[in-house]
Amino acid sequence: MTATSFATVLVDRFGRVATDLRISLTDRCSLRCTYCMPAEGLDWLAKTDRLSDDEVVRLAEVFVGLGVTSIRLTGGEPLVHPTLVPMVARLAALRPRPELSLTTNGVSLTRSAGDLVDAGLDRINVSLDTLERERFAQLTRRDRLPDVLAGIAAAAAAGMSPLKINTVLVRDSNLAEAPALLDWALRAGYQLRFIEHMPLDADHTWSRDGMVTAEEILELLTISYQLVPRGHDGHAPAEEFDVIDGPNRGSWATAPGRVGVIASVTRPFCRDCDRLRLTADGQLRTCLFARDETDLRAPLRDGASDAELGAVIATAVAGKQAGHGIGTPTFVQPDRTMSAIGG
Ligand code: 5AD
Ligand code: SF4
Repeated sequence: MTATSFATVLVDRFGRVATDLRISLTDRCSLRCTYCMPAEGLDWLAKTDRLSDDEVVRLAEVFVGLGVTSIRLTGGEPLVHPTLVPMVARLAALRPRPELSLTTNGVSLTRSAGDLVDAGLDRINVSLDTLERERFAQLTRRDRLPDVLAGIAAAAAAGMSPLKINTVLVRDSNLAEAPALLDWALRAGYQLRFIEHMPLDADHTWSRDGMVTAEEILELLTISYQLVPRGHDGHAPAEEFDVIDGPNRGSWATAPGRVGVIASVTRPFCRDCDRLRLTADGQLRTCLFARDETDLRAPLRDGASDAELGAVIATAVAGKQAGHGIGTPTFVQPDRTMSAIGG
């Protein structure tokens, strides 16, 4: 039986169809963002525990046969994976060809942006929380802002469009910089999205009262800009806004500009979620906040057929939880951190 005979079986009890797969290629990272990792890093996965490139491609092929139409490569930091470019090329050779995207911290993007585009990468999101060098060094514990800015410019020059920038705002750090970040993004023609901080940090510093909410971000932005809601783009989690006015009107590279807010905590979009996540050690997660995972590595290494792997995946998806329940009394933060799950 070919994997394609499973098409459209990835449906859960709530009628949601999973079409978007995020693959974490590594749990390692070149930065140590305070809201994500401890200074000393984490206990990295051993090489034998991580899926090989062949195993990742094999599983991706099964997922594509099950109706997955877009694949995002994440980490940790996917650019520290030594064979990222050939991996993109191999995924681009799958049929039907999935849309391919990357979420990166941009630190070493300058070197590979052109190769990634040539290999078939369609879209890129770069994480950037501040434009101030000292603050960047504090927030990420590494003095790499110039590298990230050069990486973003290289991705734009290589033709990555739209180029999206992900920003997490932290109250005692970069919150007041939000309008300046937006101004920078509008001038350069990048699409900025502010992401609410989620309880997925290794140090368990997150608190509902301390986090910066979407409402607060929008209030701050509307002091300087007029925002016109556009709603969600398909199943995408970001609420999008056209930015039609501001102090620098007329000087932006694109008009009207766009900004997005991903309110995972205060305005959850679980009902529309079409995502699945594969960790670097081959565990399938149907939700960022799931407490349980489904092991795909063991059946894969035991020689399971595409049909058998498909059945395991379909069963896991069928049992996907209704929502994350952050803020409810029974919510428990998952054991894995964001960097070990992939954004
Ligand atoms: N909450 C929200 N976003 C996070 N990121 C990392 N940890 C968290 C968290 N706890 C962001 C990174 C990056 C993307 C992969 O997820 O800044 O933009
Ligand atoms: Fe690395 Fe991303 Fe975590 Fe920062 S948020 S330490 S860039 S994985």
